[in-house]
Amino acid sequence: MASRVSVVYLFSVMFFMLTLLSFDTEAKVHFHKWKVNYQTWAPDCVEVNIISINGQYPGPTIRATEGDTIVVEIENLMPTENVVIHWHGIRQIGTPWNDGTASISQCAIYSGETYVYKFVVDRPGTYFYHGHYGLQRSAGFYGSLIVDAAGKEPFTYDGELSIILNDWWHDSTYEQAVGLSSNPFVWVGEPQSLLIDGRGQYNCSTTSHSCNATNKQCSPYVLPVRSGNTYRLRIASVASLSAINFVIQGHKMNVVEADGHYVEPVEIDDLDVYSGESYSVLITANREPSQNYWAGVNVRGRQPKTPTGLAILNYLPNPSTKLPIAPYPTSPLWNDYAYSKALAMKFVALKGHEELPPLQSHRQLILLNAQNKINGYIKWAINNISLLPPLTPYLAAMKYKIKGAYDITPPPDIYSPRDYNITIPPPNPNTVEGSGVYVFTLNSVVDVILQNANTLTANNSEIHPWHLHGHDFWILGYGDGVFDPAKDPLNYNTVNPPLRNTVAVFPYGWTAIRFKADNPGVWAFHCHLEAHFFMGMGVVFAEGVEKVGKLPNVAMGCGLTKNMIDMHH
Ligand code: C2O
Ligand code: CU
Repeated sequence: MASRVSVVYLFSVMFFMLTLLSFDTEAKVHFHKWKVNYQTWAPDCVEVNIISINGQYPGPTIRATEGDTIVVEIENLMPTENVVIHWHGIRQIGTPWNDGTASISQCAIYSGETYVYKFVVDRPGTYFYHGHYGLQRSAGFYGSLIVDAAGKEPFTYDGELSIILNDWWHDSTYEQAVGLSSNPFVWVGEPQSLLIDGRGQYNCSTTSHSCNATNKQCSPYVLPVRSGNTYRLRIASVASLSAINFVIQGHKMNVVEADGHYVEPVEIDDLDVYSGESYSVLITANREPSQNYWAGVNVRGRQPKTPTGLAILNYLPNPSTKLPIAPYPTSPLWNDYAYSKALAMKFVALKGHEELPPLQSHRQLILLNAQNKINGYIKWAINNISLLPPLTPYLAAMKYKIKGAYDITPPPDIYSPRDYNITIPPPNPNTVEGSGVYVFTLNSVVDVILQNANTLTANNSEIHPWHLHGHDFWILGYGDGVFDPAKDPLNYNTVNPPLRNTVAVFPYGWTAIRFKADNPGVWAFHCHLEAHFFMGMGVVFAEGVEKVGKLPNVAMGCGLTKNMIDMHH
């Protein structure tokens, strides 16, 4: 009973807030019916099996206005696989069971089963959705979710365009998963292609796979523009591995939004997009209009072995088939990290739109990102624990106090030894698997410092884009080397830090974030590189679980939740 009262209260508060936000326009409900299935597709002209939605790849775009409700009925038609869908960037306030994370918010949707996701999109911005089970995101299981502002925005434009960036392999995600969990480790290598909105062009003469260069599925994506007009281009990345640099030949970009928050406009020639991030950039079609231009993507942060991915900026009325005469777009050197860091630091909250962070935090975590081993198997570990998602979803396990579902010992707040040398491979690379949870006091303020280190390979440290579910966080700062808890916080940006849901930690450096643990539920915080999360690179946060409403039965039925169904009517 008590929980029901609080849910009713929560919903009335939410409703009241949404009424305020919606400027008298009626909040709408958008209903989508999706069938998820395997499908043959040729994203880069090479035929592979992907996971499609209603026969489409990428999946259908969801479009709504802030305050609206989205209802998506998912029917899993794949005969041999379970699914979930995560709504990346949507905080799921009041609906933590619809966050779409297998093992955390719900049981995966079994083959043949139907599940209905229902949630409110409370904030305008550029978002997306993707599978969050195994390596399903890498199998093409993703699409766009765009939320329009109900009121005026702090910039204007004549038209809108939208793309999702991705990297692509010809080996199936099943082969990749087996390789990642084998001893000896089998690495799939660098991607064969980079895709712009699901399209790339592999050189068919260099493969024995079935490949058809004239397949319409792999013709370059077309961005149509009219001379003199300004466009809002929404860009997101669901890449499995690569940091992707986006360039439009001869055109400047003005960054105005990042992860659903307005930023001080930053004019740039090229944009680094890390997996899990989204941006809006304004571009003006101000070049010689008798030509078309290349938009291109290149790998950064890893020695590139993948050709430039291409799309066409099509100045109408030129035909889109008119190929640009310019050379393919180039990006800054892959390992110019100073360039990447300088760019990342340029994004700050837009003046007049800042939401300022609390000046003090109640708790500080320092999370060491290390590559490690368990019985010879390569893993990623955070404070020497490699996350092993349990069979029973945390949300149900915590809400219904199911015993034995996960490790009740919380993982350490700070890594040890404190003099760990981040510049060399781990001297004692043994780690352990774990499923403990960081539990925060509801409404407390939490700082997390992500501390990067050397991998198992000498002189190697990688970029990790970390994504937080259920919250946005302020980026307080980035630094090189080992974070100093006494000195470094003195330089935090508390004046105009950007709110984001994804942030990069650069090689041998640290990144500090702050957030309010104000969203009752259980939330993943993890590296958004698909292989890294699969190998344990993540942690689990929880707050206020006792305030969460009754979980839908269909979110349960796996692990130890089986006995819980219908017990709580
Ligand atoms: Cu887009 Cu947990 O990820
Ligand atoms: Cu990573």
